[in-house]
Amino acid sequence: MAEMDKKKVAEAALTQVESGMVVGLGSGSTLAFFMEALGELISDDFTVYGVPTSVKTEKLASKYNIPLVELTDDLVIDVTIDGADHIYEDGSMIKGGGGSLVREKIVAMHSQRNVYISDASKLSKHVAQVILPVEIVPFGYKRTQLTVANQLGAKAELRMQGEDPFISDNGNYIIDCYLNDTGLLNRVDRQLKLLTGVVETGIFTDLADEILIADNEEVYRYL
Ligand code: 5RP
Repeated sequence: MAEMDKKKVAEAALTQVESGMVVGLGSGSTLAFFMEALGELISDDFTVYGVPTSVKTEKLASKYNIPLVELTDDLVIDVTIDGADHIYEDGSMIKGGGGSLVREKIVAMHSQRNVYISDASKLSKHVAQVILPVEIVPFGYKRTQLTVANQLGAKAELRMQGEDPFISDNGNYIIDCYLNDTGLLNRVDRQLKLLTGVVETGIFTDLADEILIADNEEVYRYL
């Protein structure tokens, strides 16, 4: 069921894309459905250029024949389509479940419009535990992990991949912080980014222009 919802919302997001556009391509399983559908649209009469937010997305773009462009200083990204892990009623989100939060935030910050697509299980009323991913540099990571945990008053676990730490596309580590109360997300984001060793957080506020949600195979606009 969840897979079908992801597919439906991904297909609905295609209406956001017009021929000739530069499209920020988010990361994750919902985006995989979006890219597959976008790839099917591409023809001599319908061209788009993608800006990938992760190495995985880069590979998928190549699989679906979506041409990519680099995020240069003068590139205009018309719209970015991305997924989310936790969506609050005001449109704030927590992202980074797939570990691509830094590139996702950079692309979103430089996009004219940001559209997030997800299924109803990601709405905050359905999420039991808030897990905030924070990307940190590997050097001295245990100290940074402790500092972040103390700042948040929360458990902060190093994300693992098998026996080894998970390594982000930027060569960094990720700590997953188990929050009881997020408080004001903007403030938490600013406080964490002041800590030496922290690269970026998965808190995305004031970025979503539109959020589409699929629930029981029906897609509706949440924001
Ligand atoms: C990756 C992300 C993804 O957008 C998020 O995890 C949603 O993934 P999915 O579509 O698989 O539920 O933030 O860093």
